[in-house]
Amino acid sequence: MRTLVLVSHPTLDTSKANARLTAAIRDLPGVEVRHLEAIYPDSTIDVVAEPAAALSADRIVFQFPFYWYSTPPMLKRWQDDVLVFGWAYGPGGTKLAGKTLQLVLTAGGPESVYRHGGYNLYPVRELLRPLEVTAHLVGMTLAEPLVLYGVPNIPGLSVAHDPTSEIAAFAARYRALLAA
Ligand SMILES: Cc1cc2nc3c(=O)[nH]c(=O)nc-3n(C[C@H](O)[C@H](O)[C@H](O)COP(=O)(O)O)c2cc1C
Repeated sequence: MRTLVLVSHPTLDTSKANARLTAAIRDLPGVEVRHLEAIYPDSTIDVVAEPAAALSADRIVFQFPFYWYSTPPMLKRWQDDVLVFGWAYGPGGTKLAGKTLQLVLTAGGPESVYRHGGYNLYPVRELLRPLEVTAHLVGMTLAEPLVLYGVPNIPGLSVAHDPTSEIAAFAARYRALLAA
């Protein structure tokens, strides 16, 4: 299985969670990691390279920090520029059909605030509905999302070096998922 991991994070160098998650899966065979903000510092997506990378994968992973209950801007731009009429949807737009979309996201809020009537009103799974519908429209199968909650509350400022941390455990789950 070939997997394309699209990492979107504007400040990955100083990230607590996503830097470690990216490091945990980078060396897996059959996995291509593309950190969008690093590849496109001027925010202009290469509309030849990105569709080609997507086309060659059986599974596409969106790895991102939850930003305003959505994806960071570069991952939204990837969707806007790559998932175009006649390619991803509409007449002849079947290029991604049959592939799997896996969402791997980190959140500032703890899981307890993501419930009906809670501080953030809804479970994360429901807030991800725009991506669920997008996957449906382009004929992809949405896998069960992986969510790491409450990142700021996870102990340790430099968890990148703490193998016992919750982030390390989540990273191991993520690696096992992509290795399967
Ligand atoms: C612009 C912005 C918007 C954010 N929006 C949310 C949000 O909607 N929900 C949430 O739980 N956390 C939100 N956060 C917190 C980030 O999701 C959190 O800091 C990140 O997942 C931690 O991962 P990192 O260590 O890789 O940066 C936001 C952070 C920023 C900077």
